[in-house]
Amino acid sequence: MKRNVIASLFTSPELIGQEVDVMGWVRTRRGNKHVQFVALNDGSTIKNLQIVFDMSEFTDQDLKPVTTGSAIHVKGILVESMGKGQSVEVQAKSLEVFGSADPETYPLQKKGHTLEFLREKAHLRPRTATFGAVLRVRSALAFAIHEFFNRRKGYYYLNTPLITASDCEGAGAMFQVTTLDISNPPRLEDGSVDYSADFFGKPTALTVSGQLEGELGATALGGIYTFGPTFRAENSNTPRHLSEFWMVEPEVAFFDITDDMDLAEEFIKYCVQYALDNCKDDLEFFNEHYDKELLDRLKFVVENDFKRLTYTEGIEILKASGKKFEFPVEWGTDLQSEHERYLVEQHFKRPVILTDYPKEIKAFYMKLNDDNRTVRAMDVLFPQIGEIIGGSEREADYDKLLGRIEELNIPMKDMWWYLDTRRFGTVPHAGFGLGFERLVLFVTGMTNIRDVIPFPRTPNNAEF
Ligand code: 4AD
Ligand code: MG
Repeated sequence: MKRNVIASLFTSPELIGQEVDVMGWVRTRRGNKHVQFVALNDGSTIKNLQIVFDMSEFTDQDLKPVTTGSAIHVKGILVESMGKGQSVEVQAKSLEVFGSADPETYPLQKKGHTLEFLREKAHLRPRTATFGAVLRVRSALAFAIHEFFNRRKGYYYLNTPLITASDCEGAGAMFQVTTLDISNPPRLEDGSVDYSADFFGKPTALTVSGQLEGELGATALGGIYTFGPTFRAENSNTPRHLSEFWMVEPEVAFFDITDDMDLAEEFIKYCVQYALDNCKDDLEFFNEHYDKELLDRLKFVVENDFKRLTYTEGIEILKASGKKFEFPVEWGTDLQSEHERYLVEQHFKRPVILTDYPKEIKAFYMKLNDDNRTVRAMDVLFPQIGEIIGGSEREADYDKLLGRIEELNIPMKDMWWYLDTRRFGTVPHAGFGLGFERLVLFVTGMTNIRDVIPFPRTPNNAEF
């Protein structure tokens, strides 16, 4: 079919006066017996294209199936628009209706449905202005990620497995993968499940992070990045947690924690700038309808240095703040979202990178500092979001890593291949993980992570 994508009609003045073919979904229809106006959207831009039907050339019967939500094809002449707020419109010459939508049952009748309502209609919400914009920005950011790494030399896109037998973060919040009959699995003599009869001959689960395999890639290719789905079976019902989310994980050989922080900062700034440059209409829509400070905040992040300090310094600032937090501030405990946001939004008023956390609250693979109490972790904390990146320099010393694995009782037999990187040509290396949906949240100014992924997976919700 010959089709003019609507986004291109707004930017192609040479097409004015020409015949065009537009196809899309009707947002609204209004008018009188002389003229009817249809606002048409084909998903390519936040802007609707106005189609003008001269009713001396069409009958009421022709226009009857042209209801909100219907899909149509209009052949007509692209003309400069008289109406305000739109640069061009189409004067219809012929109409083809692909499919009507019954006004009695089509759920997206009016503008301004709540985001909660639209979550229940996730199969149709991409057709709304808000979700069209979210999904276009999300797609642009995914492209920016690949572009960032490909413009630098020495980073390769590595695909790490989704099904795994190891628990990277050691938190145990994994979704099991099995082909055993869970109502009646084969059992060993002691009554435990006989996993030798399972598909992979051992217990497996969906990955929580591609990092461990990423380290195998980095210690061969020099630099890699992953970009794929990860899964966490933690029962956190918050506006910032999903059970299935996408993560970007660069891992780089010959890198220390400072190199890692520099990469993280440049990476985020690149992605935000890319959105500012390439998603102007959509970001202006969010700025106008959801968050009047969005564009200023995005520009601020791109233009200013992130504040870097240690966890210990952060704790001191929080203690000295005199603020009553819901969770008390104590050296050694993990920071809660309220603590992170205080540092970012109220104290420093800019993104913050916190380093050198107590080893007890971080994963086994992080490089131990000489104080024996803290590890070379770095978390990037963002306004509105809290933690957007978690990363570290890795423990490159075989004996020290083994010590941590034993201390934490991590099953050694699952880790032999990982330990081999430290036995054969070990190198200093570092990496991080960026939560892709948290980046999309930040860039769009949306406030619930369920609204920046097409089909969210959260506790008790796997619809669509
Ligand atoms: O801090 P996390 O758990 O770090 C790792 O998984 C490391 N293996 C990464 C690495 O060093 N290669 O997760 C990294 C990021 C977080 O900062 C957050 O942005 C995001 O992933 N994240 C989530 N996003 C949505 N829903 C969840 N349940 C998330 N858990 C983590
Ligand atoms: Mg983390």
